[in-house]
Amino acid sequence: MFILNSSDPVPLYKQLYHQIREHILTGKLPAESRLPSVRQLASELSASANTVDGAYQELYAEGYIYSRPRSGYFVSSLDQEVAPRPAPRKLGKSDFLPAPPARFTYDFHPARLDPESFPAELWRKCLTEGLRYNGREFTHYGELQGDWGLRCSIQSYLEKSRGVVCDPEQVVVCCGLHQSLEIAAQLLKDDHRVVAVENPGYHLPRDVFANHGFSILPVPVGQSGIDLNQLKAGNADIVYVTPSHQLPLGYVMPVANRLGLIEWAESGGRYLIEDDYDSELRYQGNPIPSLQGLRPTGNIIYSGTFSKILSPALRLSYLVLPYSLLGAYRQRYSSYNCSVSLVEQRAMASFMEQGHWERHIRRMRTVYKKKHDTLLRAVEASFGKRAVVIGQGAGLHVVIQLPETTKSEAEILDKGRQKGIGLIPFSDFHVTGKAGRVTLVLGFGGFKGSEIEQGIALLSQIC
Ligand SMILES: Cc1ncc(COP(=O)(O)O)c(C=O)c1O
Repeated sequence: MFILNSSDPVPLYKQLYHQIREHILTGKLPAESRLPSVRQLASELSASANTVDGAYQELYAEGYIYSRPRSGYFVSSLDQEVAPRPAPRKLGKSDFLPAPPARFTYDFHPARLDPESFPAELWRKCLTEGLRYNGREFTHYGELQGDWGLRCSIQSYLEKSRGVVCDPEQVVVCCGLHQSLEIAAQLLKDDHRVVAVENPGYHLPRDVFANHGFSILPVPVGQSGIDLNQLKAGNADIVYVTPSHQLPLGYVMPVANRLGLIEWAESGGRYLIEDDYDSELRYQGNPIPSLQGLRPTGNIIYSGTFSKILSPALRLSYLVLPYSLLGAYRQRYSSYNCSVSLVEQRAMASFMEQGHWERHIRRMRTVYKKKHDTLLRAVEASFGKRAVVIGQGAGLHVVIQLPETTKSEAEILDKGRQKGIGLIPFSDFHVTGKAGRVTLVLGFGGFKGSEIEQGIALLSQIC
C-alpha cells in the first residue's frame, strides 16, 4: 500500500507519514480503521521499526490517529468538511509559469542590456565595503521604506538629473515596477476605481491594477503621448504614463500636454503615475526632465528603476510618493519590511555616493548610442523604404512599421523563430491583443559586434 524510496532526500519516516496522512485525508483509510502494527508494517515495507514508529508518532501527535491500550493505532474521525485537504497533484495548463524564454541568435527583446556592461568589479567592491562597514546593521531589519543613505542618494540624483523635486522622506525603495504599482493600487483603491493606460502600452500596469479590481481604460497614444481629449472624455481617476519615452512608440510628451495632464489630475482629485523607466538614455539633445518636477506638490506618483542602466537582475527600483499619500503609505505599510536586501541597498548607495552610477550612465549612453545608430543604419540598408521608423533616439529599442508587407505579425514572428530571430509581438502592447499594421519592436541592447547588421539583414528577408 505504501512505497518508500531510499534515494529520496525526504527521510523514510516522513515519506510514510505523508502517505498515511494522505490516505486518511482522502478517505482511503476510513475513521476507526486499525493501522497495522509497527512490526508488521515494517516487515511489509522492508523498513526498520523506527521508520514506522516515527511516522505513527507524528500522526499521533497531530491527531490523525489515536491509540487504544493493547490494541494498537486507529484512524481518528475527522470532520471531512473542515479536514485539511492534500494539495492537488495535477496542475492545469494555466497553473504553470510561462516557459523560460527561448535563446535566439538574434534576440530583439527590448529589455536586454549589453552583455558586457555590468560593472562586476566595482559592484563587488561596493558590496565588500558595505559588508565591512555595516556588519552591525545586518543583524536587524532595516528601515521599512529603504536604507536612508540610499534614499538620500536617489533623491539627489533625481533632483540633479531628472528634475524631480522631493525629499528623501518621499522615496520608497522597491524591488521593481510591479511593487511600485502594487503600492499605488493599495493607496488609491478606496477612492479611485478606473485606471487609464496608454494604448499601445506596457502590459504590467494593466495586470497589476486589474488584479486589484480596478477597471482599465485604454487611451490611444499619438505623437504627443497619451491623447488628452480622450482621457478627459473617459471616467478614469488615475492615469499611468511613460511621458519621457513612451513604451513602446518612443514619443516624448510635450510640455503643454504635461501641464494639461497635471491640470486634469488636480482638477478632480485624480492621480498620475509617471514611469520614468529609461530616460537616462537619450541620444539626441538633453534628457527630458520629469513631469513630477513641473508640479512637485501635485498628485504625481513617480517611479524609476536601476534595471535599464545597471541590471534588471538586481531588482532595485524606487518610488517617489507625493506628500498627499505619504501619511496613508506609512499607516498601511507600518508592518511591511523593505523588500530589497539591505546588503544590495548599501552596495547601491556606495555605488552612487562614489560617483560610479553617473559615470556608468555616461558610459552606457555612449555604448547604446552606437548600437542605436548601427541599428538605424542597418534598417536603412536592409529595408530601405519598406520600413518606416517611428520610435528612435532614446532607450533600448527602435520601432519600425512595415506598411507594404503582405505577411502578418504571427507569420513574421514564426518565421523569425525558425531562423533564430527573437521578436516580441507588438500586439501584446495593445489592450485588445490586436495591433493594426505590422509593427516591430527592435531592441538592440543585447547585441554584440556585427550581430545587429546580421540580424536586421536576416529579418528583412522574412518580412
Ligand atoms: C515601461 C517600463 N517600466 C519599467 C520597467 C522596469 O521595471 P523593473 O524596475 O521592474 O525592472 C520596464 C522594464 O522593461 C518597462 O518596460
